[in-house]
Amino acid sequence: MTVDYDEQALLIELEPEAGRLLDRHLKVANEWFPHEFIPYRLGRDFDKEPWTPDQPRLTGVAQTAFEIGLLTEDNLPSYHRLIHGMFGHGDGAWLNWVGRWTAEEGRHAIVLRDYLTVTRNIDPILLERGRMTQLEAGYDREHADPLHGLAYVAFQELATRIAHRNTGRYSDDPVADRIMVRIAADENLHMVFYRDILGEALKLQPSAAVRAIVDEVLAFKMPGAGIPSFIRKAAQIAKAGIYDIRVHRDEVLLPVIKHWRIFELTGLDGAAEEARRRLAEHLDKLDEAARRFEEKMALSPFPRMTPAR
Ligand SMILES: [Fe+2]
Ligand SMILES: [Fe+2]
Repeated sequence: MTVDYDEQALLIELEPEAGRLLDRHLKVANEWFPHEFIPYRLGRDFDKEPWTPDQPRLTGVAQTAFEIGLLTEDNLPSYHRLIHGMFGHGDGAWLNWVGRWTAEEGRHAIVLRDYLTVTRNIDPILLERGRMTQLEAGYDREHADPLHGLAYVAFQELATRIAHRNTGRYSDDPVADRIMVRIAADENLHMVFYRDILGEALKLQPSAAVRAIVDEVLAFKMPGAGIPSFIRKAAQIAKAGIYDIRVHRDEVLLPVIKHWRIFELTGLDGAAEEARRRLAEHLDKLDEAARRFEEKMALSPFPRMTPAR
C-alpha cells in the first residue's frame, strides 16, 4: 500500500465539506436514550439469583451474534485513538466530527450491555471477561492515512449496520429488534458521512482515493476480527445468514462502490487502473464464493434467516 499524497493538505481541503456534512448529520441525527429501550421490569438482583445457562431466551446463533456485536462496540477507545490519529485534524469540523462520532458510538455498547444484562440473555461474567480481553488487546491497523481510513470506515459502518440489523431480525425478540433498528440507524448515518466525504476526496485525489478504496476492499476484516474465537463465531453468523459473503458483497461493498462510481471514473493513473481491475476480479471471486456457500447452505439443516432483500 502506497501513500503518495499530502495527507494534511487533503484534510485541509476537505474541511469545508466535513463541516457541511457534520451540519447535515446534526440535523438528521435524532437524540435517543438507551434506558428507554431496556425492559427494566425483567431485572433481578444477581446476588440473590445468579445467572444460569437456562435463563437466556435468545436461541440459535443470536447469543453469539449479540456477543460479537457488543464486544466490537466495546473496543471504542481503540477506534477513537485511530480515528483521531487519521482525521482528527486541526480544531474545526474534523475534530468536531471525531468527538460527535465517538459520543454516538458509546451509546451502542451501553444499550447492548444493559439489554443483555437485564434480560439475562448472555452470561454477564463471560461478557465482562470478553470485554477485558478485547480492550487489553485493543484494535490497530497498519495503514492509518486519511484515504485508507475513510475507505475502511465507510465499508465498516455499513457492515456494522447490516450485521446489527440482521442480528435484531434473527433474534425474534421485539425488544432486541427495536434496539438493533436504532443502532443500525446511527451506523447508517456514520456510513453516509464517511462515504460522502470520501466522495469529495475522489474529486480531489481520484487515483490515490481509488487505490485506497481497492486496498481496503481487498484487505477488509470486520472490526471485531480480533475477538477470541472470532473465526468460528463468524462462521456461525454466516451460516445463520446474519452476515455472509453474499451480504458483504451485495449489501456492503457494491452499494458504496456504485455510489462512488468507481468503475465509471476517467483519467486515473496506471496504478489506479490496475487497482480497479483487481477490484472487478475480487468482486467476481466473491460472487462465485457466495454462490458456492448458498448452494452448500441450501442442502444444510442449519437454520438460516431469510434475507431482507
Ligand atoms: Fe456502533
Ligand atoms: Fe458507527
